[in-house]
Amino acid sequence: MNEKIKPRVALFEAVHPVAASILQEHGFRVDSLKHSPSAQELAELAKSSTLIGVRSKTKITAQLLSGSTALAAIGCFCIGTDQVDASAAELGIPIFNAPFSNTRSVAEMTLAEIICLSRALFQKSSQLHVGRWDKSSKNSREVRGRTLGIIGYGHIGSQLSVLAESLGMRVVFFDTARKLALGNAQSLSNMDAVLAASDFVSLHVPDMASTRNLIGAAQLQNMKPGAMLVNNSRGKVVDLVALASALKSGHVGGAAVDVFPEEPAENGEGFTTPLAGLANVILTPHIGGSTEEAQEAIAVDVAEKLARFWTQGCTAASVNFPAVDLPNVRSGQVRILHVHKNVPGVLSKMHTLLANAGVNINAEHLQSDQNTSYVILDVDAFQDANIMNALRTLPETIRMRVAG
Ligand code: NAI
Repeated sequence: MNEKIKPRVALFEAVHPVAASILQEHGFRVDSLKHSPSAQELAELAKSSTLIGVRSKTKITAQLLSGSTALAAIGCFCIGTDQVDASAAELGIPIFNAPFSNTRSVAEMTLAEIICLSRALFQKSSQLHVGRWDKSSKNSREVRGRTLGIIGYGHIGSQLSVLAESLGMRVVFFDTARKLALGNAQSLSNMDAVLAASDFVSLHVPDMASTRNLIGAAQLQNMKPGAMLVNNSRGKVVDLVALASALKSGHVGGAAVDVFPEEPAENGEGFTTPLAGLANVILTPHIGGSTEEAQEAIAVDVAEKLARFWTQGCTAASVNFPAVDLPNVRSGQVRILHVHKNVPGVLSKMHTLLANAGVNINAEHLQSDQNTSYVILDVDAFQDANIMNALRTLPETIRMRVAG
């Protein structure tokens, strides 16, 4: 069976080298490339690769996917997966990403910005760069004892909560889902209560219809006079025109913004925002999660998910595929991974086929989405290649292989 040939992985866009090491440990031959490939180069490599790893620049088109019959899975070594065409799922190709590996980096940057805003450090530094000495304690305050309000108490918000308390801050938060408060943090019943109670408000919600313009003129008005706002979540969560106006009036005392409704696709492109040039406003180009540590953590996370999919068939962490998982296959057994069209009767055909060949099924896990079903079958080891061929040639089969 050609499943036993050493599989090949193509990694693009200078994915952190730890990914190659992990995949090599799992028996892969790894091609690590620093650049984003041309469509032609990508098509060539995809033909002979079992796995492909990309970051955000490499586009995986429907045409490329349909022509890459050897491709078993795609790793997006980043947060988003929009660069891969949606047809991947129908073709039986799961996509894995690393949605939470950079969350500590965002939490740390947020805390740093809160201190910088509280001491107007960027403003003082900018003035000194142009020769203005302004030594004064006016409006410069410690964060100890002050209240941080966190909107969205997920991976980032909850880490920020712990870090802020370690500085002696009081933490209140609001999350639409019920969340366990860490340390001495206090969960409040609505966002307005958080806005009204806080000296600093930090936003850590996802980009969804319900969070678009979550913070507009009315919400800014609900903040304490002089309180400061940090948005390191998503650009459309804050109405920047309203924020600029609240900053100009002095009602909001400062802001740090890392994410914008429209962001340049490339470094060096022009950029404008209503916040440009305003006092005590820190602007950063969507770098909250961009650290060396995050890149390494992303590489470990995605490579391990790919390896687990290859060796065990696990799709539990995939973004586009029915979530199927079973413990390690036992010795003396074979794990069959079968992706098929979600229509009635396929499982029963597979059972009959195996039963007729005298092959016992020891474990089975099936999940389906609207179009696709994915089943893992752990069966007694068998020698008859015809069984695999018969499963592969069922008219409903999309893809199949033996794990590892
Ligand atoms: P998460 O999914 O772990 O947490 C988000 C939380 O927000 C959830 O607990 C959810 O229940 C809550 N939530 C949703 N709607 C809400 C609402 N209307 N009010 C209050 N809470 C609400 O997400 P995570 O990892 O903490 O990320 C938070 C945000 O940070 C996301 O938008 C993510 O895209 C962004 N992010 C930004 C980065 C950057 O470079 N600046 C890097 C990484 C993430």
